[in-house]
Amino acid sequence: MQTPIDRTRLESLAHQETERFISANPTSRQLAQAARPHLLSGVPMHWMTDWGTPFPLFVDHARGVHFTDVDGHRYLDFCLGDTGAMFGHSPGPVAALVRELAERGYTTMLPTGNAARVGALLAERFGLPVWQFTTTATDANRSVLRWARALSGRSRILVFDGCYHGTVDDTFVRLTDREARHRPGLVGQVHDLTLHTRVVPFNDLSAVEAALADRTVACVITEPALTNIGMVLPDPGFIEGVRALTCETGTYLVLDETHTISAGYHGWSGALGVVPDFLTLGKPVAGGLPAAVYGMSREVAKAAEAYLATKETGHSGMGTTLSANMFTMAAIRANLEQVMTRDAYWHMTATAAYLAERLEALFARLALPWCVTQIGARCEFQYCPVRPRTGVEAEAAMDDTLEGALHLYLLNRGILITPFHNMTLCCPETTHAHVDTLVDTLAEALEGLIA
Ligand SMILES: Cc1ncc(COP(=O)(O)O)c(C=O)c1O
Repeated sequence: MQTPIDRTRLESLAHQETERFISANPTSRQLAQAARPHLLSGVPMHWMTDWGTPFPLFVDHARGVHFTDVDGHRYLDFCLGDTGAMFGHSPGPVAALVRELAERGYTTMLPTGNAARVGALLAERFGLPVWQFTTTATDANRSVLRWARALSGRSRILVFDGCYHGTVDDTFVRLTDREARHRPGLVGQVHDLTLHTRVVPFNDLSAVEAALADRTVACVITEPALTNIGMVLPDPGFIEGVRALTCETGTYLVLDETHTISAGYHGWSGALGVVPDFLTLGKPVAGGLPAAVYGMSREVAKAAEAYLATKETGHSGMGTTLSANMFTMAAIRANLEQVMTRDAYWHMTATAAYLAERLEALFARLALPWCVTQIGARCEFQYCPVRPRTGVEAEAAMDDTLEGALHLYLLNRGILITPFHNMTLCCPETTHAHVDTLVDTLAEALEGLIA
């Protein structure tokens, strides 16, 4: 994509920043070498090598909006664990609870008193009355697809091109040359996912209508805005239109709010007033401890209970041993009651709005034709003048070389933003001064790159 960026200067910046990272992080380098023989690719999850640093940065500790690496550098964190730490690292009430509960047991496979309270809190907040718990958002989505298929008696699902719902196999389908194909890069997948997954472009209601017309689709699963291929906002009326089409065709609607929970206290769907049949949410729901939830309407819950009462005996294929354990249920409660508050959202959204304004002003000053999009506490810039409307448009606006160099430049100066795109989150401790540091540092990098 054409930008006024000087590619030769960009190349030399990337080189300089790589050298700077290597010399500034000797302890991370040593740990990377020590980990190499015993961890696949030298990291606990193989994709941790995709950050764009010459070796992984090893973290020592994190608190609030900051984390510190093993070489003693302190970072301003705008990545916040890609939403897992959206309310800051070790949020006070959750940290206090962890200390208090540390010697009172972690897991029994039985409910505790917090379970009922957490169910009520989720129902009050998200408008769906009945809830279940998993350990990851991936697993919440996987469970919901199972329920939708079981209760509808239909095998297919519909996803949007460029979606991401965790490592749920069924959703790893893209639209390539107008055909559904496996997402490139998928490892070890032996099933033809396109047999049971349809895929259409986001913001294309006619395509949704056509895909649902034969009434063989169990559910549409989507984020209210695509957030994993850069950012793609829904056109006005699009999500409402999908809701109407799903109702007309007896198809369930699943809204995955794992990232769009940044939008506000009730999530995106709550703000929009669209009630899905299922809602899924993971990442920050237990303040960064591993937990996820999925909610369902009363009608769906009744059908699910009837299904369970009459199904043949045997494992349902849903539920893992450590999910809904006593420890994380307590953490979800503390988080919902004391951390994910209206006040926290007010502050985070106002800070992200300031960030969006400052980024827009910077790009205007440097005549960079780039757009900025804010969803509550989340703010992203993309290398295109007009906000993308589809996954394909968002992907076309990516520039991996530029992104890698900018991220490394920021990292070398104590600022972390989310890898794989230009996403930032503001937590309750993020201040205007932190935002100024990010934008001023980004400005320095860009000023040196303008052609
Ligand atoms: C929208 C959305 N849903 C689900 C997930 C999966 O979350 P996890 O990796 O915690 O299972 C992600 C992860 O990025 C996500 O962005």
